[in-house]
Amino acid sequence: HNQQSALIMIFGATGDLANRKLFPSLYRLYKKGRLSQFAVVGVGRRTLTNEQFQQNVVNSVAEAIPNSSDLETFASYFCYHSHDVTDSSSYLTLKNIADDLDEKHNLGGNRVFYLAMAPEFFGPIAIHLKEDGLTDVTGFKRLIIEKPFGHDLKSAQELNNQIRTAFSEDEVYRIDHYLGKAMVQNIETIRFSNAIFENLWNNRYISNIQVTSSEILGVEERGRYYETSGALRDMVQNHMLQMVALLAMEPPIRLTPDEIRSEKVKVFRAMRPVEIDEVNEYFVRGQYGKGSIEDIEVPEYRSEQMVDPNSNTETFVAGKVMIDSFRWAGVPFYIRTGKRLETKSTKIVVQFKDIPMNLYDRPDQEITPNLLVIHIQPEEGITLHLNAKKAGQNMEATPIKLSYANTGIASINTPEAYEKLIDDSIKGDATNFTHWDEVALSWSYVDKISQAWEKTPATNYPNYASGTMGPKEADELLEKDGFFWWPIN
Ligand code: BG6
Repeated sequence: HNQQSALIMIFGATGDLANRKLFPSLYRLYKKGRLSQFAVVGVGRRTLTNEQFQQNVVNSVAEAIPNSSDLETFASYFCYHSHDVTDSSSYLTLKNIADDLDEKHNLGGNRVFYLAMAPEFFGPIAIHLKEDGLTDVTGFKRLIIEKPFGHDLKSAQELNNQIRTAFSEDEVYRIDHYLGKAMVQNIETIRFSNAIFENLWNNRYISNIQVTSSEILGVEERGRYYETSGALRDMVQNHMLQMVALLAMEPPIRLTPDEIRSEKVKVFRAMRPVEIDEVNEYFVRGQYGKGSIEDIEVPEYRSEQMVDPNSNTETFVAGKVMIDSFRWAGVPFYIRTGKRLETKSTKIVVQFKDIPMNLYDRPDQEITPNLLVIHIQPEEGITLHLNAKKAGQNMEATPIKLSYANTGIASINTPEAYEKLIDDSIKGDATNFTHWDEVALSWSYVDKISQAWEKTPATNYPNYASGTMGPKEADELLEKDGFFWWPIN
């Protein structure tokens, strides 16, 4: 039980992430009794009293969770420190607050530092935490950081070096919130707890795998960040490649963080690097133009707030990832993600190879390939597409579906993802966080693509209308291999 006690220090406590995700997630953990002994210090630049901060906490939970109760008691575990990230004396005050709370709530000297703020501060804060004594604890110390973890391999490496002066690799919890999603975690369970899949899970039986994460929202108020990022850094380097790694990894010898992460690392190492002069063969970029989504007219990317009217930033990426391993040689993993698409949906479609000889193939009838669809969000579940005999006096085959719906969870599961990840980090389970080796390898994969795209700006932006599934080149990417994107609606 003592494992679960900790002082949680949130840097960026007045920010969007803290209010929308962290406070509601902590509240849920609190209500479930998973935070027995805890205290939270909110740290931010703004001047707030403890009471004002506690009121923020109450408001943000009330907004996220209808019918919530005990909000005042919950908020009483929170206090606030108005902080200057570059000033040692401010850290000393913070240290005193932390030490007092530690004693008052009997927290065993356990400390979790959550950096929910702009990445340029990650390094300096980590260094100060060490130099000013906040990491001299009798219990555990852990650092949770949000993306972006660097902008490319080089900056990620610099950032990592700074962080590692104060925290060891196994004390660093790098959040990829997709790894907290129930159905992303289910990829492993589906693969490794069923006799019928693992035997087929290779290039002899699978023809291709398609991973789509589409969004309806545009860039919203995040233009300043997104202009420096684009869909490749925002979604592909982390969420999309992480899903590919889970789909492609070898069965780990044990379900421990080290074993799982080392199998994932091998997948990243086997990803065929896309050389700069062949990027167009493997990757497609897009930027949304105006259009209509669910009957609402929306503007083009280039006229969004804080966006350059001639922006070369991609809001859509489709790609073909090849994994050169014995298991996967020859099987394309197609990935696709974008903003202002037709629907909000994350899905994985595993397409099996055609049967060797089709007894049912007549001019009026075609056998559809078997598909395993993993629905990540908004609905959660699995569908297996098979063929069966049509009812009646005939010998015709017809497609059928076996479906499982993972129920009991609200439709958009992002808050639950955070809840799970915070819980894991307090328990000390790093399985669903990204190891530095994964971060480094995924950056080196993505860097070549972004370099090529920076060198040759797109001449056809905007190249897809809002409310569609992206530019036609994304369809051609599969068509030239004899495939097509399975509909995800
Ligand atoms: C974030 C990206 O990591 O993931 C956002 O920065 C994106 O741009 C979001 O909207 C998507 O997450 P989810 O959980 O809504 O699929």
